[in-house]
Amino acid sequence: MYFPAYRARRMRRNETIRSMVRETHLRVEDFIYPMFSAFGKNIRKEIISMPGIFQQSIEHIVEEAKEVHALGIPAVILFGIPETKDPVGQDAYSETGIIQETIRAIKQAVPELTVITDVCLCEYTDHGHCGVIVDGDVDNDSTLALLAAEALSHARAGADIIAPSDMMDGRIDVIRELLDANGFENIPIMSYAVKYASAYYGPFRDAADSTPQFGDRRSYQMDPANRREAIREATLDVQECADFLMVKPALSYLDILRDLRENFDLPLVAYNVSGEYSMVKAAAEKGWIDGERVMLETLLSMKRAGADLIITYHAKEAAQALAKG
Ligand code: PBG
Ligand code: ZN
Repeated sequence: MYFPAYRARRMRRNETIRSMVRETHLRVEDFIYPMFSAFGKNIRKEIISMPGIFQQSIEHIVEEAKEVHALGIPAVILFGIPETKDPVGQDAYSETGIIQETIRAIKQAVPELTVITDVCLCEYTDHGHCGVIVDGDVDNDSTLALLAAEALSHARAGADIIAPSDMMDGRIDVIRELLDANGFENIPIMSYAVKYASAYYGPFRDAADSTPQFGDRRSYQMDPANRREAIREATLDVQECADFLMVKPALSYLDILRDLRENFDLPLVAYNVSGEYSMVKAAAEKGWIDGERVMLETLLSMKRAGADLIITYHAKEAAQALAKG
């Protein structure tokens, strides 16, 4: 053994040395901030299970978008709460849908802020599932055309990156094809490639009013027990020309992030989901943990696992914490 000649503690003696040998860094450029855009005027309603996160109408979204940009955060990802929901989620691909109007408003007010849009139907369907229902289950192939239409309408409204979260088979391919056929060959696709059927999405479903009205999402989202299947899912999306790969949730799936980092060279995104955020907030509120330190340690763990980017509700507070050093 090396001891006592070798002593690991030598490299931890003071903050200067520690910072010189630090392997992983959090940067404000790593963060993507999620926002919930609600139909109507003068709406700013805090989500009870997500302190600090709001359902907001467009004028408030635009104000927050300016704040996000001023903090140096490069991008937001948008979710919509439409005026009306129906069985096929028409607001999702309407030219005047809630997200299309929100994209235009943000791009006009803060053109430098990158706007990513979540492409899925669950926020727009009255049954709350991510696709069209046929014989009691989500029908893959008839859902594809609607997702592609949604992606195209987001691109037409000015979205910078399209992020499909539905977990239908073959969707990256049909979205890429329709975007290209309409002159949007330069719009990247950020695929929610590996998305598990997770209980950690609970608070998000309050925020987006998207809880399934019957059954659950286990016939399309992945089984949390499966690791090899994550490689297979990601491989398919790479073959279909995805530009970014995402793993969701993040904290309980750091092994999956590491697997994807080692198997693919595409930029890798971790989604630090609603339940992960709520747990930190709740424990901090009770005084049981130091909320800021736990937040930074959690985000750092996602980068250490291999993520390049992190979608997180903590983005603004993390940016502020990093700025104060
Ligand atoms: C829509 C979607 C969900 C999330 C992102 N996009 C919810 C779901 O699949 O039920 C979850 C995000 C979060 O929990 O923060 N498909
Ligand atoms: Zn969905």
